[in-house]
Amino acid sequence: MTFNALRFIRASMKTAQISTGQLAYIDRGTGQPVLLVHGFPLDHTMWDSQIQALSKYSRVISPDLRGFGQSPLGPVDPTHGITMERYADDLVELLDELNLRADQPIVFVGLSMGGYIAWQFVRKYAARLRGLVLLDTRSLADTDEGRAGRLKMAENVAEWDSGRVAEMMGPKLSAPSTFKTKPAVIAALRRVVERTSPAAIAAAQRGLAARPDMTSFLPHITVPTLVIVGDEDAISPPFEMQAIAAAIPHAEFVVIPNSGHMTTMENPEAVNAALSKFVEGLSR
Ligand code: MLT
Repeated sequence: MTFNALRFIRASMKTAQISTGQLAYIDRGTGQPVLLVHGFPLDHTMWDSQIQALSKYSRVISPDLRGFGQSPLGPVDPTHGITMERYADDLVELLDELNLRADQPIVFVGLSMGGYIAWQFVRKYAARLRGLVLLDTRSLADTDEGRAGRLKMAENVAEWDSGRVAEMMGPKLSAPSTFKTKPAVIAALRRVVERTSPAAIAAAQRGLAARPDMTSFLPHITVPTLVIVGDEDAISPPFEMQAIAAAIPHAEFVVIPNSGHMTTMENPEAVNAALSKFVEGLSR
C-alpha cells in the first residue's frame, strides 16, 4: 500500500463517545457496513489492506478497542480486566452512535481476540448482524496453563514493559516464511505491540483469561458465516478452525496460504479476495 493511502486512512480517524469513554475508529466508504475488529495486543492498523480494499464497495468501520491504538483505556475491572462481553458492548454502543441499528445490520469481522469478541456479539446482538467472519480465532477457553500465563503477564507487564511482550508474542504471530520474506510486516507488528500501554495489555489479558468456552454455542449461530485461517497459524491452528466451521451451520471455510496467525497482514491479497466474495455474496 502506498504511503499516501496509509496517510489518508490515519487522517480519517474519528472519535465516538460511549459509556466507558471514547473509541477512535475509521469510517470509510459507502454500502454494506463491515466492522473490522482487531486482535491482541494490536490496533486497527492490522486491517490497513482490508480497509483500503473493502471500502471501494462497502462502508468499513474499524475501531481501536479501548486502550489500543488511539482509544483511551477507560474503566477496568481489577479482577476480570475488560471482558470480551464488555468489548462487544462497547462496539454495539459505537454502532448506535453511528446510527447503525438492526435495520442496517453489519458484517462483523474479527481476528483472534476480535473473534472472541465476535462470539459475545453474536450471543447478545444477533439481530444486528448480516454476516460473520472469523479469522484465526478459537472457540475454546484457555487451558489452566494458558490462563496462568496470561495472568502472569497481566501482573508483570508494567515492570516488563511492552517491548518484552513484543518479544514473547512476535515469534508466534507470523509464519516462518513471513519472517524471511516480509520483514516490513514483522517490524510493523512489533511497533504496534511496543506502543501499546502495559495497562491495556494487562486489562485485555485478564479479560482473555476470563473468557468462556463457546464451543457449544457454535451450532446456534444462524447468520451467514465465513471462517478463515492461515495455513501455518500456530495460535489457532487450521484443524481447530476447521472444526469451528464444521460446527456452525452452513459456514464457509477458507485456508490462506503462506500465512501464520496474522493473515490480514501476511497474505492480504488472499484475505481480501475471500472477504470480497463473501460480502458481495451477501448483497445478492
Ligand atoms: C490475538 O491475536 O488476538 C491473540 O493471539 C489472542 C490470544 O492471545 O489468544
